[in-house]
Amino acid sequence: MSARPLSRGLLSAAPSKHLRSVVPRVAASHSTLVGPNSSPSKDDRSSSEPVTHFGFQTVKESLKSTRVAGVFSSVASSYDTMNDVMSFGIHRLWKDHFVRSLNPGRRPGGQPMSILDVAGGTGDIAFRMLDHSEKVNGDRETTVLCTDINADMLREGEKRAIQNGYDSNRISFRVENAETLESIPDNSVDLYTISFGIRNVTRIPMALRAARRVLKPGGVFACLEFSKVSPAPLDAIYQQYSFSIIPLMGQLVAGDRDSYQYLVESIKRFPPQSEFARMIKDAGLVNVGKGYKELTFGIASIWKGVKPLE
Ligand SMILES: C[S@@+](CC[C@H](N)C(=O)[O-])C[C@H]1O[C@@H](n2cnc3c(N)ncnc32)[C@H](O)[C@@H]1O
Repeated sequence: MSARPLSRGLLSAAPSKHLRSVVPRVAASHSTLVGPNSSPSKDDRSSSEPVTHFGFQTVKESLKSTRVAGVFSSVASSYDTMNDVMSFGIHRLWKDHFVRSLNPGRRPGGQPMSILDVAGGTGDIAFRMLDHSEKVNGDRETTVLCTDINADMLREGEKRAIQNGYDSNRISFRVENAETLESIPDNSVDLYTISFGIRNVTRIPMALRAARRVLKPGGVFACLEFSKVSPAPLDAIYQQYSFSIIPLMGQLVAGDRDSYQYLVESIKRFPPQSEFARMIKDAGLVNVGKGYKELTFGIASIWKGVKPLE
């Protein structure tokens, strides 16, 4: 970890050397957004606008990101505790493995890396990237920009960064929609990560195309996400646990059953491993090997793609 602590809010911190051109001010909080179980209005149902899923509900495309924002604003303060409770701490092992497999940080004779963590939430991946760069590769210059559509989640990340003394020149937080990554220049990122975020995005192909756009040629896209469990008997137990225990825990620990109900429904709706690998390829990235690697019987998987050099 860095010797230079943060002295002020990261959301308005000065941009880091390598991300200078891409760090703006944070956008508005989502605290006034509707909750996860708000019903679509009559107009929502009658409009000809395309619809999508929000967990097991069908909603207008334009409403999904608002509903998702409502979920994450609601869970932001309990998110880290709930992750540990729901996964018995296993999410930490998956995240450690994810980051180790990417081996971030400057290589001998090379440049520091510019890492973009999308849907970065409370910073779990961003912090691990910096820790690994420094401890394993002796690199104190690689930077991480942690982006999310939800300012409440980023604020929790900011608090953690300050509490743990991370260097504001190396980590910054910014509100960005994964579908557009508006403020991120083309061909500017060495490593794009998205952990447990992609299933919440309304138009996933659009987010994948944005990832390709911002990556440098040869840059790496890496996604950690829940996936399909096998063999079938294990999946049956997992489904039972997900649908009966997790919403109940959400209610007991965080006082919020609906948001956790959405989270398990959104996991169920996410495409199978091979289908998501094909979506990555369709966005113009080259799959690494078969495109994905399963963790813990497929409860989660890691997908990787590379932006072609041409
Ligand atoms: C389950 S959390 C994951 C947070 C963190 N990456 C982790 O692994 O702990 C999912 C995050 O995705 C964010 N998110 C949802 N839709 C998004 C979008 N369209 N663009 C950016 N972030 C989004 C949510 O706000 C939330 O913080």
